[in-house]
Amino acid sequence: MADSVTITDNRSGQSIEIPIVDGAVDSGAWSKLLPGLWLHDPGLSTTAECDSAITFIDGDAGILEYRGYPIEQLAEHSTYLEVAYLLLNGELPTPQQYSSWVDDVTHHTFIHENMRKRFLEGFHYDAHPMGMFVSALAALSTFYPEAKAIFDPEVRYRQIVRLIAKVPTLAAAAHRFSVGMPFIYPDNGLSFPENFLSMMWKIAEPRFEADPVLARAIDVLFILHADHEQNCSTTTMRTVGSSHADPYVAVAAAAAALYGPRHGGANEAVLKMLHSIGSIEQVPDFVAGVKGGNGRLQGFGHRVYRNYDPRAKIVRQLAYDVFEVTGKNPLLDIALKLEEVALADEYFISRKLYPNIDFYTGLIYEAMGFPIDMFTVLFAIPRTSGWLSHYCEMLDKDTKITRPRQVYNGSPRRDYQPLGERS
Ligand code: CMC
Repeated sequence: MADSVTITDNRSGQSIEIPIVDGAVDSGAWSKLLPGLWLHDPGLSTTAECDSAITFIDGDAGILEYRGYPIEQLAEHSTYLEVAYLLLNGELPTPQQYSSWVDDVTHHTFIHENMRKRFLEGFHYDAHPMGMFVSALAALSTFYPEAKAIFDPEVRYRQIVRLIAKVPTLAAAAHRFSVGMPFIYPDNGLSFPENFLSMMWKIAEPRFEADPVLARAIDVLFILHADHEQNCSTTTMRTVGSSHADPYVAVAAAAAALYGPRHGGANEAVLKMLHSIGSIEQVPDFVAGVKGGNGRLQGFGHRVYRNYDPRAKIVRQLAYDVFEVTGKNPLLDIALKLEEVALADEYFISRKLYPNIDFYTGLIYEAMGFPIDMFTVLFAIPRTSGWLSHYCEMLDKDTKITRPRQVYNGSPRRDYQPLGERS
């Protein structure tokens, strides 16, 4: 049996055979047979927009790998910065490469004083930190005009280091501003997660000592969020990058895509949902409401996973480690009951809806003291390395500008009527 598909245009009787390569068929062959006839694919759910060697997902089997390494092994043994290096370079670093990479990132964590004093402090006192974060990323582009030289390897490397190093500083600055606390400068003597926690929580102590369990939990959460192939924000990154925009504005656009409750905003939505449910006794009524069309069960379902999200399994276990230090988040019992009821319910079984990563992350963040508004920002910090990996992969392949087609279904041609003649 040939590994191909044959398409016949019944209007002309012409056929074309298209080979199946790596689970995909080439749209160029389709266009050759059927010029001007578009594939109608809203949400791009059946379109492979690119070739990528970064992240592999088998949604039916619940498998996630970065550059071939299973997410479970990376979460257990690696650090976020090592994973960022892996995503960007394709290989795990040697000890020398690792120490120079960590050194580079550590020495680019400071932001320009104007960024903090004039830009961030210009926001209204109750600005959402994710709104501040998205705008600050775009504003960085104005501080580094050299970033436009996107095909110069040294210039590009400098912007990658700056972005990965500065996102925790911007995130913490946005938080401190929104709660009226003074900005904390980065401490280059601390590890990446410890420094982030220091910038978030330090008050007057000479050096903030993060609890090692919590610092490791943040690092693991950063590993789990670092990449997830062609999701909404990564596709945005590639789309904006395909116009050869600089990496700062492209990352800002990707972060904006992440902001929505269907994507990175889901962790915030999960916590609000758990608070609104209020008690275990209310769970069956809430699930019945969802089945009746009254909203969605936040943190459930995924475009790609039709199985338990492998990241959710790791986060569920991590929650217990964190609660040993912080005390149990009382919402955990509601979450566990929700999961139990949903996984036994025909509505969720038949639609293959399982918990995704966001179902349990909010519980951890809340137990660690992060305000709900910060949850999506916490997702964006590590995803920056994934976005940049896709940006570089795309630029190195010199891909075309993203420019899809549409099926026009608006009004047919008509003549303009002057305002006074319209009723
Ligand atoms: N609760 C209730 N019903 C759901 C849910 C849910 N969370 N998710 C999907 N469905 C139903 C949906 O109503 C539809 O039912 P029907 O066939 O009767 O119309 C069916 O399942 C298929 O849904 P869909 O909207 O076609 O699925 P999708 O692949 O377009 O959407 C999703 C994926 C993640 C947007 C969706 O599952 C959702 O809104 N989940 C809640 C939000 C959430 O947790 N998002 C985080 C995703 S993981 C983190 C990330 O990568 O950003």
